[in-house]
Amino acid sequence: MKQLKGRDLLGTADLNPQEITDILQLARQLKNQELEIKCNLVLGLLFYKASTRTRVSFSVAMYKLGGQVIDLNPSVTQVGRGEPIEDTARVLDRYLDILAIRTFAQADLETFANYAEIPVINALTDLEHPCQILADLMTVQECCGSLQGHTLTYLGDGNNMAHSLLLGGALTGLNVRIAAPKGYEPQPEIVKQAKEIAGDQSEIIVTQDAIAAVEGAQVVYTDVWASMGQEDSADQRIPIFQPYQVNQQLLAHADPEAIVLHCLPAHRGEEITAEAIESERSRVWDQAENRMHAQQALMASLLGLV
Ligand code: CP
Ligand code: NVA
Repeated sequence: MKQLKGRDLLGTADLNPQEITDILQLARQLKNQELEIKCNLVLGLLFYKASTRTRVSFSVAMYKLGGQVIDLNPSVTQVGRGEPIEDTARVLDRYLDILAIRTFAQADLETFANYAEIPVINALTDLEHPCQILADLMTVQECCGSLQGHTLTYLGDGNNMAHSLLLGGALTGLNVRIAAPKGYEPQPEIVKQAKEIAGDQSEIIVTQDAIAAVEGAQVVYTDVWASMGQEDSADQRIPIFQPYQVNQQLLAHADPEAIVLHCLPAHRGEEITAEAIESERSRVWDQAENRMHAQQALMASLLGLV
């Protein structure tokens, strides 16, 4: 996987299908403790938004690789006092070996990557969440045996998760259906890009019809109705998104063996019922665990350790 050495991961489509396959295979080997990779490198975490899973899974993944982690919380660094990204990026580049950033604008992430030579990883922006998608694809593979020929239906906001699922599915032959209310669809450019990547290998569908979208799906996926930064519109979104709630009634339309995924954090009673997330179909805890294995494999690849 030497071709990944030194690269950034700013969006899901920065990886080609073979690279995704290789990272997922490495993640499985690491999870099964079939190999050990060791380094003495330093990961920086620069998070402008809250995080439990991404922060902890990246940290533990780096500790398992033998490296160290520095938490560069904007509130305790000069970043929060307005030091330009261009300056921060060039300085961090001299200290760190790899940097994961969670921020709002994709353009800010790109500026960091342009000014830092070390690998820069998108740990979530308003546009995409590619690390989550690696774990999601790994979980679908584990549960369904393969990605090709299976269908994942995502219900809810056409947000960062919807975008990365569209691209990740298109790259790996997983059919992706997005059911979102009018006015909350994924960005048309991302849908177009996903359709171009998918070609005739997989089906990419965006619809407002939640029931039709779930029909026969092997994976039913949802995310919060109001993402970080959209808290002010949370209440007004509730009635609009209600028909897209993942509940037992909706799940009755899916494949009888369908699994339920959620990137978490979940709001029970909103995008998913307590019954659905606690049901035997739910694989959300395996999915959360896989963040750690997938990111360990990703970092090992970008650092040239494999
Ligand atoms: N799924 C996910 O990225 O969770 P956190 O916001 O807790 O990192
Ligand atoms: N769409 C959510 C994902 C959280 C992991 C958000 O951006 O807040």
